[in-house]
Amino acid sequence: MRLSNKTILITGGTSGIGYTLGVELLKKNNKVILLGRDSAKLIYARNEGFQTIQCDLSKQHDIEKAALEIQNEFPDLDVLFNNAGVQYNYLFTSTVIPLDKIQKEITINLTGQILLTQLLIPILSNSQNALIVNTTSGLGAFPKSDGLVYSASKSGMRNFSQGLKYSLKETGISVIEFIPPVTATNMTLGRDEEKMEVEELIRIIIPQLEKGRELVTTFKMRIFLWIAFLFPDLANKILSK
Ligand SMILES: NC(=O)c1ccc[n+]([C@@H]2O[C@H](COP(=O)([O-])OP(=O)(O)OC[C@H]3O[C@@H](n4cnc5c(N)ncnc54)[C@H](OP(=O)(O)O)[C@@H]3O)[C@@H](O)[C@H]2O)c1
Repeated sequence: MRLSNKTILITGGTSGIGYTLGVELLKKNNKVILLGRDSAKLIYARNEGFQTIQCDLSKQHDIEKAALEIQNEFPDLDVLFNNAGVQYNYLFTSTVIPLDKIQKEITINLTGQILLTQLLIPILSNSQNALIVNTTSGLGAFPKSDGLVYSASKSGMRNFSQGLKYSLKETGISVIEFIPPVTATNMTLGRDEEKMEVEELIRIIIPQLEKGRELVTTFKMRIFLWIAFLFPDLANKILSK
């Protein structure tokens, strides 16, 4: 599917991977709608040529309102990127965490986007060639100990993405899973590890999205997933270093 002259919604579009993806898709002559919470970031995005929708994905009412807005203002929606995410890092077993913080992380990363997807499928069904892209994570395959809830939410998103693909097989809606590597964004600020620049990541993934690859990711991540699949003990050793 050529990603041009399409109407595209990106959740978590106001910064990081979502924003840079949006910039590239604007250049390719698409109508790009960024969904986020932060008013200042949304105003900035409108000045840059984006359409915007304010929505906190941890709130069901906001999600319903956003879906109605999309139905009324963008009934020609072709592509949905479920990309918003938060990652709270703490040691689950040795830290007392307010339960609403745990709930919020799962809701933003998983439940909120499942609800949004459910509400948008009827709108996407009107497109000849619709696409849903779900951003997951390598941690959804192999959890890390200081990000258990994040890892579990991304694992849920991977499973949801796979199931959605089966469920929509007979329709015109394709489903793709997108796994970013560790990328230099707000989410990874202060983390002392090798990170990919977000512009480089977007350059790599757009051709893969256009080819309709079922899994969109970097070569290194693809190799890692294969190793993890064939030799899970070795993958555990690499990750626990
Ligand atoms: N960076 C990495 O290394 C990495 C690796 C693997 C997977 N990922 C995944 O890639 C996706 C993008 O992450 P990123 O690295 O670009 O992080 P980021 O720069 O922190 O962006 C996160 C985005 O999520 C939005 N968001 C957070 N809470 C929200 C809420 N309650 N309602 C609506 N939007 C909300 C933020 O919007 P507002 O600021 O407007 O609230 C922001 O635009 C996430 O799903 C993340 O899990 C990232």
